Amino acid sequence: MESSAIILAAGQGTRMRSSLPKVLHYLLGRPLIDYAIETACKVTGSKPVVVIGHGAEQVRQAVGEAAVCVLQEPQLGTGHAVQQAQAALQGQADLVLVTYADMPLLTAHTLQRMLTLQQAHDGPLTMLSVLAEHPRGFGRVVRSPSGQVQAIVEEAQATPEQLAIHELNSGVYCFNAAWLWEALPRIPLSPKGEYYLTDLVGIAVSEGHSVQAVVAEDPLELIGINTRVHLAETEALLRQRINREWMLAGVTLVDPATTYIEPGVAIGQDTIILPNTHLKGSTVIGEHCEIGPNTMISHSQVGSYCTILASVLEKATLENHVDIGPFAHLRKGAHLAEGVHMGNFGEVKNSYLGPGTKMGHFSYLGDATIGEEVNIGAGTITCNFDGVRKNPTQIGNGVFIGSDTMLVAPVTLGDGARTGAGAVVTKNVQPDTLVVGVPARAIRKLKKGD
Ligand code: UD1
Ligand code: MG
Repeated sequence: MESSAIILAAGQGTRMRSSLPKVLHYLLGRPLIDYAIETACKVTGSKPVVVIGHGAEQVRQAVGEAAVCVLQEPQLGTGHAVQQAQAALQGQADLVLVTYADMPLLTAHTLQRMLTLQQAHDGPLTMLSVLAEHPRGFGRVVRSPSGQVQAIVEEAQATPEQLAIHELNSGVYCFNAAWLWEALPRIPLSPKGEYYLTDLVGIAVSEGHSVQAVVAEDPLELIGINTRVHLAETEALLRQRINREWMLAGVTLVDPATTYIEPGVAIGQDTIILPNTHLKGSTVIGEHCEIGPNTMISHSQVGSYCTILASVLEKATLENHVDIGPFAHLRKGAHLAEGVHMGNFGEVKNSYLGPGTKMGHFSYLGDATIGEEVNIGAGTITCNFDGVRKNPTQIGNGVFIGSDTMLVAPVTLGDGARTGAGAVVTKNVQPDTLVVGVPARAIRKLKKGD
């Protein structure tokens, strides 16, 4: 059976106290809404429909092509919100899941359980309930003496006996689509002037249908974010979940409490992550690496057997057996080939360092292409910016750059060239030639063994 999902995201989120719509606040590197969209896609295999209202344009932009957005204006309750998705979904699916955009820990596994149960029954809907000590304002699930779900009662309307019920309505449902579209207009207006989706449970029961409930295996999945306190609590839980998965997959986290791994990251087996390490975005780390402590890597590719100590990498590529830090900074387009060593206080941007090249101390390489087995002396700088444009530096294989050399780009140094300490290189250097001075001038041709 075809299934689709509706994600409710039109509410204001007043308690966030923010000019940013609630569902665009970041949770472990991504806007909240991304989690609900990704989970829904995983289960249904199709783009969900997101119901937007408050901050609609901002949310629509952030969602982009990931989902279909429909506007709910004004916001007249959860039942009314689902109705706004009807035109986009009618005839598209036999089963419709309804979830919330502010419930990022809800798993595909739980939604799949709901779909499976709904498919196995004739009733018009399956709801997701949760057993909890503290009701947190959730609606209560009322069951008959024989245990059949009878109704959901909102806290404001509940009797004292109903308030004592510990089975709560999560707000997540799986509907038979045909029944849903037919029943929605029959929801009565609540005393608060809203159309409650929860009323569909009572409506189904009054028509003689049975309503199934899946009880959540882990109540934490249903945490809804209403305040920034909830946001931080949820981020901690999500980090624990992700960290645990990596540890079970063979990655050592020396201190999971200070290890921050975003959802899009991948890490190879037998890699060791030391404390206070942040792995962000689409970062991929190979096997047998040692990363951290005090390291931030975002959107980077790291090979196997690499060591990265107290460094920052952004959109960089490291091949195998690269050793960097402490205090290295790799920026966009830095590519360190196999066996490169980069020591302290170095910065590399948009540059390729060939296999076995060494850059030990205090250097900046920008817009440079550097060959194999090159020695970059302490304090070497590529002067790549002339005030107007960025210029390239080319360094051949086996070049030896003396300490404190300034390479004024555009400039090319041939294979086997050498610069003296403090040289300011303004002209191309021929292969196997030693240059010295300010500006550097050729003093002699090098012989083998020099
Ligand atoms: C709802 C349920 C309650 C359940 C609780 C779980 C109803 C009537 N009650 O209550 O039984 O225990 O969720 O969290 O459904 N939204 C819209 N448009 C609207 C109103 C809400 O899109 O007009 C969205 C909100 O952005 C939010 C979700 O629907 O994502 C839930 O709305 P909210 O007002 O928070 O409902 P609750 O009072 O929490
Ligand atoms: Mg709520």
